[in-house]
Amino acid sequence: MLEEKYYPNKELFKDARIKNMCEYKDLVEWAKEDYEGYWGHWAKEKLNWIEPFEKVLDESNAPFYKWFVGGKINVSAQCIDRHIDSRKNKAAIIFEGDRGDKQIITYLELYRNVNRFANLLKNEFGVKKGDRVVLYMPMIPEAAYAMLACARIGAIHSVVFGGFSAEALRDRILDAQAKVVITADGAYRKGKPYMLKPVVDAALDGGCPSVEKVLVVQRNFEDVVWIGGRDYSYNEMIESQADVCEPEVMDSEDPLFLLYTSGSTGKPKGVQHSQAGYILWAQMTMEWVFDIKENDTYWCTADIGWITGHTYIVYGPLAAGATTVMFEGVPTYPDAGRAWKMVQEYKINQFYTAPTAIRVLHKLGEDEPKKYDLSSLRVLGTVGEPIDPPAWKWYYEVVGNGKCSIVDTWWQTETGGHMISPIPSATPVKPACATFPLPGIMADVLNRDGSSVEPNEQGLLCITKPWPSMIRTIWGDDERFKKSYFSDVVKDGKPVYFSGDGAIKDEEGYITITGRVDDVINVSGHRMGTAEIESAIKKHPHVAEVAVVGKPDEIKGESIFAYIVLKADTDDTLGEEVELTKEINEVIATEIGNIAKADAIVVVPGLPKTRSGKVMRRILRAIAKGEEIKQDTSTLEDPTIVAKIQEAVSCANC
Ligand code: PRX
Repeated sequence: MLEEKYYPNKELFKDARIKNMCEYKDLVEWAKEDYEGYWGHWAKEKLNWIEPFEKVLDESNAPFYKWFVGGKINVSAQCIDRHIDSRKNKAAIIFEGDRGDKQIITYLELYRNVNRFANLLKNEFGVKKGDRVVLYMPMIPEAAYAMLACARIGAIHSVVFGGFSAEALRDRILDAQAKVVITADGAYRKGKPYMLKPVVDAALDGGCPSVEKVLVVQRNFEDVVWIGGRDYSYNEMIESQADVCEPEVMDSEDPLFLLYTSGSTGKPKGVQHSQAGYILWAQMTMEWVFDIKENDTYWCTADIGWITGHTYIVYGPLAAGATTVMFEGVPTYPDAGRAWKMVQEYKINQFYTAPTAIRVLHKLGEDEPKKYDLSSLRVLGTVGEPIDPPAWKWYYEVVGNGKCSIVDTWWQTETGGHMISPIPSATPVKPACATFPLPGIMADVLNRDGSSVEPNEQGLLCITKPWPSMIRTIWGDDERFKKSYFSDVVKDGKPVYFSGDGAIKDEEGYITITGRVDDVINVSGHRMGTAEIESAIKKHPHVAEVAVVGKPDEIKGESIFAYIVLKADTDDTLGEEVELTKEINEVIATEIGNIAKADAIVVVPGLPKTRSGKVMRRILRAIAKGEEIKQDTSTLEDPTIVAKIQEAVSCANC
């Protein structure tokens, strides 16, 4: 693939940390030659240790790797305390609410707010090191304070995206055995209020015995039910807290947070991250991939409920001493110019969003960016799903005015931070291509036997050596951790980390991500397990069997397509599919949340199964796409079922 390359505009990156490909290659070589020396160097240079580490990497119990063994650190101090001398009056967080309300929080204010929050949790609620605290929060500064307050006292936070249902929230609270839940009464989206506290109430009503206290940030929403002895007002309690809370001394490997994410089987997994390695890479990637500089204002549009919000709204920018914009709303409200207006107003230097948002903004206002002064922009980032060349080109040419560097960053909840990405100041990029692994990251495209795939052939995207910000385990389930990530690909006799993604490496080493090769669907950059959606749909009383697949979608990347088989005794009038579709989507909304609703639900007489009972999803994916079936269907239990399913789909489409 010898496409056109786009070169960094050197004028914009005069004093970059990695100035050109020679410097990039030097770092790559250094890491290859002396892996521990390389990482040890950065850990000493970038982090403020309470006690130094004794060993860089302990591989003795692989794949349960340990980094910076014996080191003591506190992540909240990395993000706040060490900036107080030089940056106390610098904006740490700029908040803009859905309705245009604004707030600037300096590093000194952040220090005070986080310390008070930490004191509240510790002294009033008795939260101790190692306790779990679940956050079910809107995008407000208090969400960041809560995360950092947990980090300060050594509590393990688990943020649950505010769009998840009460059931999904309860599952996560139960799995984490959380002691405290932090929420807000409500939030705003597209100018309309919506409530969060009632969702927490419903989750806890279903039985969550570990939860002792609920802390509610009050934003003046009415009709909030208050349960005495359980629910407490943040607003009332925070003022009386002391301004200083000494940071807890944490071991490098103590857990920092859990973040639940979907896999190809079973319930969501509590991805466990640890302290030092995570914060090191969060900071370094802010510096390398976003070229963050002292006077920059940086904006990532993600939600803190996802890993992007963790690493690139809160931890990374603050560890780097940057100014991070936190936005409650959606970039298309009140109009397609909202995002560009904010870029103009705050003179944003780095803008980071998902391809779905780029496609929506492109569709809504092809020339909209031209109405605003976007000249402050230097780096435009994309994350979460493959970006298509037309969206890439619009981002580059219209938003970036042909001068900004685009960083197509590939990474995952499990990787903690960027893995494959251009360096904006150095890498010649090809449209819609994540380019090269970052220095120190041993990412490669392999076959199952660990051999390298031929150039331009599709293979499995793996990381062949441990890295500091990697997942440490799945909370409470070491076996599942090994099975999920270290069982598919074996290189030189050792299992290596397999991401679940397919990728292609060209003859120049450029890596293009092709998407998931497992049963995970990526809708608008949100990762969802087919198994999870299927088990939700099965709760509908008339559903006997279900299979869910992803269907390519022009805007969302993929949409959810469900095939259902009704129970034999189901009344025929239930063939009223519109009603049934509505009901099934309601079940999904209750069990998981609106984000997992299916775009198509088709009733079929049966599923294509092998004689051993395995559902052939590849066939179902092809039918959903309207493609010809290339697989041999003669080995199916019922080879005639394929034509029947095709007919049902074409009827549903007409
Ligand atoms: O399939 C890949 C896709 O998002 C998945 C990870 O999802 P999650 O853990 O929710 O984290 C999303 C934000 C980091 C990956 O397995 N993905 C992420 N970034 C890219 C991507 N696909 C293509 N290109 C990317 N830049």
